[in-house]
Amino acid sequence: MNWVADRPALDARALRREFPIFARHPSLVFLDSAASAQKPRQVIDGIAEFYRGDYANVHRGVYKLSARSTDLFEEARERLRAFFNAADEREIVFTRNATEAINLVAQSWGTAHLKAGDEIVISDVEHHSNILPWQQLRDRLGLKLLVAPTDETGEFDLARFEALLSAKTRLVAVTHLSNVTGAVLPVERIVELAHVRGACVLIDGSQAAPRMPVDVRALGCDFYAVTGHKLYGPTGIGVLYGRYDALEAMPPWQTGGGTILNVELAHTDYIEPPHRFEAGTPDIAGAVGLARAVEFIEGIGRDAIRAHEEALTGYGLDRLSHIPGLRLVAGGQRRLSILSFNLDGVHAHDVGTVLDQHDVAVRVGHHCAQPLMDKLGIAGTVRASFGLYNDEADIDRLSAAIEACREMFR
Ligand code: ALA
Repeated sequence: MNWVADRPALDARALRREFPIFARHPSLVFLDSAASAQKPRQVIDGIAEFYRGDYANVHRGVYKLSARSTDLFEEARERLRAFFNAADEREIVFTRNATEAINLVAQSWGTAHLKAGDEIVISDVEHHSNILPWQQLRDRLGLKLLVAPTDETGEFDLARFEALLSAKTRLVAVTHLSNVTGAVLPVERIVELAHVRGACVLIDGSQAAPRMPVDVRALGCDFYAVTGHKLYGPTGIGVLYGRYDALEAMPPWQTGGGTILNVELAHTDYIEPPHRFEAGTPDIAGAVGLARAVEFIEGIGRDAIRAHEEALTGYGLDRLSHIPGLRLVAGGQRRLSILSFNLDGVHAHDVGTVLDQHDVAVRVGHHCAQPLMDKLGIAGTVRASFGLYNDEADIDRLSAAIEACREMFR
């Protein structure tokens, strides 16, 4: 048994009972939490209860129900602040997802602060969501987009990253945990090195936040982008953490109701963050559901979740490395919860289809990381990713299904 901070490792089988989908699909081995996590009862019921008993629009009505709904929405913001240890709840902006959070920074901060010749550094394991907003900005403003490499073991190459930094570097935008290789990037050191050059740092925390403690103040990053649906919360809600002084110096990126202090036809004064960035009626129930999700995670403990997923990752690596003809994509020493691979002579889509016949759900394809696929010289991979409800028996089922696939294509 794993022991973390004097407490037993989590009981994945018991936790699975909190997820109604597994009762409906009892033989399902769900290994696609990196695409989206399943939802615990606490989240599903929390959203239903909000709509049943507390729903009205926020920040608008003088009546009691609207005040109650507004309180729940703002309490959700405070929950998320505490979850990420931000200094102030005004540093938590609700977005649709991490993609929107990154686009917000690109459109607002980027347009206000960057000029031709400035440089942005990303890594070579980024999801398209952390490439395309910067690519667009590069083309619009005449910036340079530089790519820091991972080495052949899948480890982020800090020395080559540092060599890319200069006085022209204005932003470093990297993932915390690769959605393809599972590599955990040394974000603490990345932030230090970037800040020495006066560059801001945005971290895409989509895959890390569900799997490990994230303390934005300890990291010292300027922006941290998260999606709710991978965090056991609902779809359609995400969070941008931004340091308050950074957010305060950013113009609204989408304008409309809720963003203003005063509107005249000739001129508008905008309200302060975070509401300046939340135009229109927000996903109120999504925020409430996400608050229930982080309460659920905190009830289990993020150290326990990380320890559990580390143990599963080790077990998975061991099992898969013994399958002849299976080529794992390297993910470095600190790989967590995500294992990508190919099977010699079998297309990734065929592997995924055979695994599905065995009720093992994985993602196949380029995983929205085509530049990484190009670098690796492959079209795609099969990707198994773990959540807190997975256990070693799931990995045994995955191995058996891969063996069956090998037999079929022998
Ligand atoms: N970004 C999600 C994934 O990696 C959808 O599957």
